[in-house]
Amino acid sequence: MFSRTFFKINNLLISQSVRKVLVQPAANMSGNSSKLLNSNMWDSDPELFSIIQKEKKRQQAGLEMIASENFTSLPVLQCLSSCLHNKYSEGLPGQRYYGGNEYIDEVELLAQKRALEAYNLNAEDWGVNVQPYSGSPANFAVYTAIAEPHGRIMGLDLPDGGHLTHGFFTPTKKISCTSLFFESMPYKVDPETGLIDYEQLAKSSKTFRPKVIVAGVSCYSRALDYKRFKEIADDVGAYLFSDMSHISGLVSAGVTPNPFEYSDVVTTTTHKSLRGPRAAVIFFRKGVRSTNAKGEKIMYDLESKINQAVFPGLQGGPHNNAIAGIATAFKQAKSPEFVEYQKQVVANARRLAAGLQEKGYKIATGGTDVHMLLVDLRGTGISGAKAERILEEISIACNKNTVPGDKSALNPSGFRLGTPAITTRGLVETDIDKVVDFIDRGLKLAKEASVVSGPKLVDFKNVLEKDETFKNKVAALRNEVETFSNSFPLPGYPDY
Ligand SMILES: Cc1ncc(COP(=O)(O)O)c(C=O)c1O
Repeated sequence: MFSRTFFKINNLLISQSVRKVLVQPAANMSGNSSKLLNSNMWDSDPELFSIIQKEKKRQQAGLEMIASENFTSLPVLQCLSSCLHNKYSEGLPGQRYYGGNEYIDEVELLAQKRALEAYNLNAEDWGVNVQPYSGSPANFAVYTAIAEPHGRIMGLDLPDGGHLTHGFFTPTKKISCTSLFFESMPYKVDPETGLIDYEQLAKSSKTFRPKVIVAGVSCYSRALDYKRFKEIADDVGAYLFSDMSHISGLVSAGVTPNPFEYSDVVTTTTHKSLRGPRAAVIFFRKGVRSTNAKGEKIMYDLESKINQAVFPGLQGGPHNNAIAGIATAFKQAKSPEFVEYQKQVVANARRLAAGLQEKGYKIATGGTDVHMLLVDLRGTGISGAKAERILEEISIACNKNTVPGDKSALNPSGFRLGTPAITTRGLVETDIDKVVDFIDRGLKLAKEASVVSGPKLVDFKNVLEKDETFKNKVAALRNEVETFSNSFPLPGYPDY
C-alpha cells in the first residue's frame, strides 16, 4: 500500500525508466542476490523503514528550532542517494589514486567553482577544498595545516557561544581534540552585555601569541566584527580563521557581514543555514599574504598544506554524493529565492526575539542580527534543561545553552532558538507570533510543574509524565503545536 502511494507521488519526480529499476529486479540477476540488491527498502527492511517513517512524521509534526538544523532540498537528497556514492576518488580532480574518475572530477570541479561563486570569490585569490566530511574534521584539517602540533589557537569559549572544535577544555579535562593536540586558550564575551570582549582578546593574544585566531560561533546572536578580529590577528602575526558554519547561508545572501574580506581561511558546514548536504568546505587564500620591511612579497602557502591535511592527512575517499549535494546547494545559493529565504530567516528571528521580549523574557545581547537567539532564564525559576524538556514535550525542538555569566556549564540557564528550518517550511512573521505564544505557554507550564517538582530535572520529568493534570495540559498544547506544524510542508521525499 505504501509503495503505491509513494509512486503516485513520485511519478512527478522520477522518470518511468528509473521507476522500473526501482520496482523490478534487474533482468540479468536471479535469486537472493537480485532481491537483496534491488528490492525497495520498505519491502526489504520494513523494521528499519518504519523507524525512518516515524522520524519523518516527527519532523513534520514538530517545530524544528535547533539553530544548526535545516531541511535540505529534494535535489540535495537525490545527490546523496545517487550512484556517486559508489565511487572511490582519493586525491584531487586530475590527480586521483583510482581510475574511472572523469565524471567525479567534473562534479568536484563544479562544486569548487560554485562554492567560489556563492561568495563572489576570485579563483586567483581564493581556493577551496570541498572534500571535508563535516565541520569538525574540516576545522581539524585547518589546524593541522596552519597551526602544526601543539601550535597555539584562540577561539571563543564554548560556554560563551564558541564551538567545541574551537578549543574547548575544562579545568580537569581536554574535551576537544583541538585542545588535546594543539594548545588552545579561550577568549570570552562580556558577562554583562553578552558581546565578544575584543579588548580582552587583543590583550591576551599579546601574551599567548597564537598562530591562529578563530572567528566563529555556535551560539551568538550578533554580527561578528571581522575587521577588528583581523587587526588583532595582524598585531600578533596570527592567521585569522573564520568558521562561518552557522551563518554561511546568510553570508552568501549578503544579509550578514562577510568574513572573506579579512580572513586567511574560512570554513563552513554546508547543512546549516546554507541548507545543503551534511558536509563542509574549506576556503583558503592564495597570492600575496604581506610585504616585508625590504618590500619583498610574502606569499600564502595554504593551498597544498590544507589540501594535504584533508587528504591524505585526515581523510580517505571523498564522499562524492555529498560533494554533488554541495554543488547543487551552492547553485541554489545564487538564486533570488534563496536570498529572500535568508532575509526571511533573519526577519523571523528578529520577530521571535521581539515577541519573547514583549512577553517578559530576557534575550542575551538584547536581540539578534542573525538566525538565532539565546533566551536567558535566570530569575524565572526554570533552568535551560527544564525549558528544553517542556518544549520537546510539546513538539518544539531546541537546545539548552549556557548564557553569559553562567556559573555551571552542566546546568545552563538558557536555551537557544533558531529560524532556518521553520523558515524553510514557509513560516513568516505572523506565524512566528503563534510560535512565541506556544513557547510562552510551554514555559508557563514548566514553571507550574517546577513548583510541584522542585529543582531537580528528574522530578520535573516525573511530574510531566505522571501527574494527570500536567499530562493533559501538555498533551493539549502539543496537539495545538502539531496541528499548526502539520499545516506547513517539508521538502524532500513525501514519506521518508
Ligand atoms: C561553528 C561550528 N563549527 C563547526 C561545527 C561542527 O560541525 P559538524 O557537526 O558537521 O562536525 C559546528 C556544529 O554545530 C558549528 O556550529
